[in-house]
Amino acid sequence: MTGEPVLLTGGSGTLGSELRRLVPNVIAPLRSEMDITDGAAIEQALDRYRPDLLIHAAAFTDVAAAERERDLCWRTNVHGTRNIVRAAAARGVFLVHISTDYVFEGSRGMYREDDTPGPVCNYYALTKLVAEEAVRGALRFLIIRTSFRPRQWPYAVAFTDVYTSQDYVDIVAPEIALAVRHLSDIPYDTLHIASERKSVFSLARRRSPDVEPRSKSEAPVALPADISLDASRWESLKRRWQREEGRG
Ligand SMILES: NC(=O)c1ccc[n+]([C@@H]2O[C@H](COP(=O)([O-])OP(=O)(O)OC[C@H]3O[C@@H](n4cnc5c(N)ncnc54)[C@H](OP(=O)(O)O)[C@@H]3O)[C@@H](O)[C@H]2O)c1
Repeated sequence: MTGEPVLLTGGSGTLGSELRRLVPNVIAPLRSEMDITDGAAIEQALDRYRPDLLIHAAAFTDVAAAERERDLCWRTNVHGTRNIVRAAAARGVFLVHISTDYVFEGSRGMYREDDTPGPVCNYYALTKLVAEEAVRGALRFLIIRTSFRPRQWPYAVAFTDVYTSQDYVDIVAPEIALAVRHLSDIPYDTLHIASERKSVFSLARRRSPDVEPRSKSEAPVALPADISLDASRWESLKRRWQREEGRG
């Protein structure tokens, strides 16, 4: 599936910048060429590059700003994803959609792919959940729910009372690239790519030993207590591929 061009949205972003280096034959048009809120621009890009696969990693991702800029967040994450789905489905292009752990309520953690999502805890999360449902209308798709941080912990503080299975982007992106290489071997339409459950503070300390502990009650937006994902589907697929590669 990866001999043909792969079109990537969000190629200038945190995840997209890593994927550009990791995915073979990737083409990542800038927003100036392929604004996802512009359906015609997406169609033109698909007709120009004729990809087999489209990885949709563009989104309005600023959780705090999403509360203030709801129209823009909705237009980008919901309308933008609908535009992507329509254009990809009309051309038989396989769609890999990057989604988030935030589609879950975040009270009990270790959510599995088939658990019922919501109620979500902020506006960004609402738009990402609706976007997932738009993707489910595509013919050929995989939704990857994940969560990651930039290579360096970006803050002086981190929450001790928020639990997550997220990891640093240089750990998560190679796993997404691995999934993309083995797409035809994935028997699911939704996959969690995540690492083990831990507090956000403990994740931050791995790369920023001086980070200071804080409580989520001090955050400017509502945060879930435990948004961790169960990634056992992914773990078992990875083990199988690693065994096969070891034999080959
Ligand atoms: N970061 C996280 O913790 C996290 C967690 C779970 C899931 N995700 C999901 O992972 C994906 C990537 O997130 P990220 O953190 O790497 O994003 P990011 O760094 O915020 O980058 C966002 C990307 O989307 C592009 N974009 C935004 N609006 C666009 C538009 N109208 N048309 C075309 N491109 C547009 C941006 O392009 P410009 O450079 O032109 O602005 C940029 O390339 C998103 O789907 C996000 O929801 C992120």
